[in-house]
Amino acid sequence: MPELQSNSLPLFQKFPALAQSVPWIHLANLPTPVQPFNTPETSATPLSNLWIKRDDKSSDLYGGNKVRKLEFVLAEVIQQGKTKLLTFGAIGTNHGVATALFCQKYGIKCKVLLFDQPVTKTVQDNLKLMQCFEANLEYKGSLFRTVLHFYLARLLGKSDTYTLFAGGSNLAGCIGFVNAAFELKQQIKQKLIPEPDFIYCPVGSNATAAGLSLGCKLAGLKSRVVGVRVAPAYLGIFPVCTSGAIHSLMASTYKYLKQQDSSIPAIKLPKINLEEQYFGAGYGHPLEEGTEATELFAQAGITLEPTYTAKTAAAVLKQCAEQPDKNILYWHTYNSADMSKLLSRVDVKSLPVNLRHIAKL
Ligand SMILES: Cc1ncc(COP(=O)(O)O)c(C=O)c1O
Repeated sequence: MPELQSNSLPLFQKFPALAQSVPWIHLANLPTPVQPFNTPETSATPLSNLWIKRDDKSSDLYGGNKVRKLEFVLAEVIQQGKTKLLTFGAIGTNHGVATALFCQKYGIKCKVLLFDQPVTKTVQDNLKLMQCFEANLEYKGSLFRTVLHFYLARLLGKSDTYTLFAGGSNLAGCIGFVNAAFELKQQIKQKLIPEPDFIYCPVGSNATAAGLSLGCKLAGLKSRVVGVRVAPAYLGIFPVCTSGAIHSLMASTYKYLKQQDSSIPAIKLPKINLEEQYFGAGYGHPLEEGTEATELFAQAGITLEPTYTAKTAAAVLKQCAEQPDKNILYWHTYNSADMSKLLSRVDVKSLPVNLRHIAKL
C-alpha cells in the first residue's frame, strides 16, 4: 500500500499539532469525488441542485464510509500493539466487510459477532466477503445477545484485543468524518461544488453524522448535516441511534481533539438534525420509497442498497421536491467496487453452518 504523509489530510493541514498525536494510517483514496447528480430524464423531481459525494469510491478494494473511519481506528489498534480486533454488526454488515479486509492486510485477527437482519442479496454477499477476508464469524442471533457478548468481552478486556463498536463508530472512527468535512471545504474552495445548504447521510452507528456535523462546524461551513435514522433508536433503555447519542459522540470527539491541539477554537456544538420517518418496519427492512429511489438512482449510475442508502436517498428526493432552490449534497456511503470476482471464489460451505442456514445459500 503506498505511503502517504499524514500532512496530506485536510484536518491535519488545518491543525498541524493533531498530526503529531492522532494515530492515522493511509487506507483510503481521498479526496473522494464530488459531482452533480446525473438526473435521469424520467425524474419527476427537479434535481439540478443535487450533488453527490462519492465515498463509494473511497477504496478500490472496498469503498464506502467505513474506510475513512478505519484509517484512524486501525492506526490506534497498531499503536496500542493489539493483534486482534473484536467488533459486531448485523449479518450483512458493510462495516464487518471493510474491517475484515483491512485487518487481513495488516495481519490483525478480526472477529465479528453477528445479529439477524432480513436476508437480501447484499446481506448474503457480505457474509461471503467477511468469510473471504478470514474474519472469525460468530452468530449470536438477536441484537441484544450480540451486544451483551460484546460488552462482556470488553469487560474481560483481553490485553491483545481491540474492541470496536458496531459500524466502526468510536471516537477514532468519528475523526475520519471530521476530516471528511475539511475535505469537502477544500472542494468548495476549489469550486468543485457550491456550499451545500444540506448534507444528507444515513445514520446507523452515528460516527458519520457526528463527525460531519462537528467537522462542518470546525471548518466554518454553514451546511446543515441531516442524518436519516435507519437503526432502532433504543436498545432497551439505552439510546443507540438518537440525536443525543450522536451529540455525545460528537462532544467526546471534540473534547479529545481540543486536548490534542489547543489551537482548535471554542465552539458551540451544532444541533443534530435526525430524520426519523424512514426507519419503516425496522433495520434492514426495505422501504417502498427507498425502492423507488433505488430505481431512479440506478438510472443515474448509482447503486443503492436497502438498509442505509435507499432510505437516505428517499429522504433526499423529498427534500429536493420541497426545496428545489436549496443545494443538497447526498453523501454516498455504500461501496461501488466490483466484488464479483472475489464472491465467485467463496465456497459457501466454508461459512459457519448456522450462517449458511440463515443466508439460505
Ligand atoms: C453503507 C452504509 N451507510 C451508512 C452507514 C451508517 O454510518 P454510521 O454507522 O456511521 O452511522 C453504514 C454503517 O453502519 C453503512 O454500511
